[in-house]
Amino acid sequence: MSSEIADTVRAGVGGDLADPVFWRAGAIATTAVMLVILAFLTIDSYRYISVGGLNVPKYDVINQHIGYEFNWSRHAAVPVIGGPEPLFGHKVTEAEAADLILKGKFVIQSRACMDCHTFFGNGAYYGPDLTKSWLDPAWPQIWMPMTGKTTREDAMVEFLMRPDKYPTWDRRMPNLRLTEAEAHAAVAYLKWLSAIDTNGFPANFGQAGK
Ligand code: HEC
Repeated sequence: MSSEIADTVRAGVGGDLADPVFWRAGAIATTAVMLVILAFLTIDSYRYISVGGLNVPKYDVINQHIGYEFNWSRHAAVPVIGGPEPLFGHKVTEAEAADLILKGKFVIQSRACMDCHTFFGNGAYYGPDLTKSWLDPAWPQIWMPMTGKTTREDAMVEFLMRPDKYPTWDRRMPNLRLTEAEAHAAVAYLKWLSAIDTNGFPANFGQAGK
């Protein structure tokens, strides 16, 4: 039966399609074209994803207010960089901000926060996604009153140093023994992260509860 089908195919489609040389040439040509497209897309992405690029602000954005507004033409919430609002009330230079954020990244990597959390959806789903955590209405609504702190960043530092003391959920974050300097750096990292235009990820942030 199968050889009958093969004969029919050969007869129907003519000699060329049965020739392996045709398929090899086709595979090589397709791979070559796709490599060119891949190279173009990779280079093009840098315009968006490099620091200071179209979607990722420079590190000293932590000196500004960061809002989050729904953009109807894009059908996504986008960060809106506002007026001056220095983190911890202390304006930093671009180099100082870069140092602090790099330190925050090391803190987050060394404590394996991604064992429980996601960034840009990557990681584990035990805790909430942290990409927009800075913008979470829970800081002013729940954690500022709970910790007795008067600013979002101070409430975040207090929470990160003693998360076991300020639970809001049935899943608990353990105390990871962050020093105050480490918590500061992690908060700087989270503030910068929230200013990245993620095309609306995570969807329904701030509406879907946790
Ligand atoms: C063992 C799991 C676990 C690890 C590890 C962990 N977290 Fe959490 N985290 C949680 C859980 C669970 C919550 C929710 C706690 C609550 O609301 O009471 C949470 C909440 C948070 C929040 C508040 C998020 C929001 O917007 O509601 C932040 C910020 C945070 N974690 C940062 C971190 C950082 C930074 C690290 C690493 C230094 C880390 N977490 C490590 C489990 C974890």
